[in-house]
Amino acid sequence: MLERLPTSGTGPTLAYEHANADALDDLRDKACSCTRCDLYRDATHLVFGEGPETADIVLVGEQPGDKEDLTGRPFVGPAGRLLDTCLEEANVDRGRCYVTNAVKHFKHQMQGKKRLHARPNAGEVQRCAWWLGAELELLKPKLVVAMGATAVSSLLGSHIKVMRDRGRILRPPGAFDVLVTIHPSALLRMRETDEKEKNRLAFIKDLRKIQSFPRH
Ligand code: URA
Repeated sequence: MLERLPTSGTGPTLAYEHANADALDDLRDKACSCTRCDLYRDATHLVFGEGPETADIVLVGEQPGDKEDLTGRPFVGPAGRLLDTCLEEANVDRGRCYVTNAVKHFKHQMQGKKRLHARPNAGEVQRCAWWLGAELELLKPKLVVAMGATAVSSLLGSHIKVMRDRGRILRPPGAFDVLVTIHPSALLRMRETDEKEKNRLAFIKDLRKIQSFPRH
């Protein structure tokens, strides 16, 4: 059931400033030299969204992880593999989806030789929302799936809470329908318990809602 939000979040809307944005490839090229925040300094690659230009579903994660940073492609590491399995179980073809992130560079802290994920702050998310907004403006999807708190706050604002609102489809004024759900990394972090399986099934149930947005 779609719910219209009375107030807009910080995320993109159809009246966004870049309504005349260039095509996706040009946008990606421009994003590669982004210095809107400092995250580009320690990253190997900017990780832009990936998927068909005709995608009517957009999946939005938080930010690239270690593997994504090294390859320059979104959701190709452990979280991506889990996402693929859950999409399959939900009967959703990843090939129909454009997969991207709220933040396009890998934020991390060094611990010895390890690069540990660090959560992007509100300023970094807000600066990168320009790119996410531009991607959505070009794609004009039927549904955007916000996976986890960072994607949710970028698209809908911080008043929407993942654990409280998961499964809801919200539409900020003038913007796209947004399905709120958890991030697959949250499942990876859970211990193997009944609770983890319950959350995994709830994630798959959320992803199944994509089916109520049939391809044209
Ligand atoms: N987690 C994300 O949010 N995005 C990726 O691309 C990989 C892991």
